[in-house]
Amino acid sequence: MMKVALVTGGNRGIGKEIVRKLALDGYRVILTSRLVCNSFDFFSRAKLFDLGLSNIDVHPLDLRCKESISGLRETVEMQYGRLDVLVQNAAVSGGGNVKRDFVGDMLKTNFWGPSCLMKEFYELLGDCSRVVFMSSMVSMRILTNARHPLVYEIGQNNTHLTERRLEELAETYTNNYESDKNLPRSCYGVSKILINGLARVYAEKARKDGKNMLVNSCCPGFVKTDMNKGNPNAKKLPVEGAKLPFYLATLPESCRLTGAYLSDA
Ligand SMILES: NC(=O)c1ccc[n+]([C@@H]2O[C@H](COP(=O)([O-])OP(=O)(O)OC[C@H]3O[C@@H](n4cnc5c(N)ncnc54)[C@H](OP(=O)(O)O)[C@@H]3O)[C@@H](O)[C@H]2O)c1
Repeated sequence: MMKVALVTGGNRGIGKEIVRKLALDGYRVILTSRLVCNSFDFFSRAKLFDLGLSNIDVHPLDLRCKESISGLRETVEMQYGRLDVLVQNAAVSGGGNVKRDFVGDMLKTNFWGPSCLMKEFYELLGDCSRVVFMSSMVSMRILTNARHPLVYEIGQNNTHLTERRLEELAETYTNNYESDKNLPRSCYGVSKILINGLARVYAEKARKDGKNMLVNSCCPGFVKTDMNKGNPNAKKLPVEGAKLPFYLATLPESCRLTGAYLSDA
């Protein structure tokens, strides 16, 4: 039976390459995108068939919208019955010292959306499934440099961290961003330490539930995509950036790596 993989933000950048690699590897891939029409243009039917890739389906998903997430879960449940791989790739970036509303918006896409997606899809993820959260080296920089208890708590590597607590910490960060100047200014970096935390929480949950589901987060390196428009330091091509997430998405059955953060930087 063909394994089923879902990739968020699969229409461009690193996500598009992860979709391509999984499809070439024989997965039925659910490419999700906010702009389904654009995705169809990009992966035009003709191109897919040229590559022999008739195994990519396109579905709409906007991570800022709960209805969009639950709608996708219903579609996947009805059409595929289960998921073997979930790559939480979609995200937005943004600079430091922004307004509270910007922080809230970014966390909607980079933390609340992925968290909601995990809640919706956890039961659909099979016993030997693989979940990959796309994080960033910026998360490590935040952990090394920030001297704030909130950062320590998100970054702690213990089994007591819960999803509820992560949500409280995300709320506190957003609410206090303007008043507490000791909080890290990079909300992108904070969104990525929250994502690493989410990976650890779900790795532990799966372990407790007796599932051999492996959940990890990773940094793809500094990749030349729309996210890094014009940055000369972003030298890697998306195809190279896709290597580590693809590796984690296809960990062999005997593998026990879970709750880890890996970097290809
Ligand atoms: N590039 C790097 O150097 C680098 C380094 C470290 C980590 N990362 C991480 O790698 C991942 C992919 O980054 P990338 O460089 O490929 O970025 P990208 O080219 O900007 O692509 C981002 C993707 O996320 C999607 N997206 C944004 N907001 C969304 C929303 N609300 N709902 C659903 N999808 C949404 C975008 O869809 P639309 O087309 O609809 O906007 C797009 O498909 C991200 O998690 C990023 O943080 C990248």
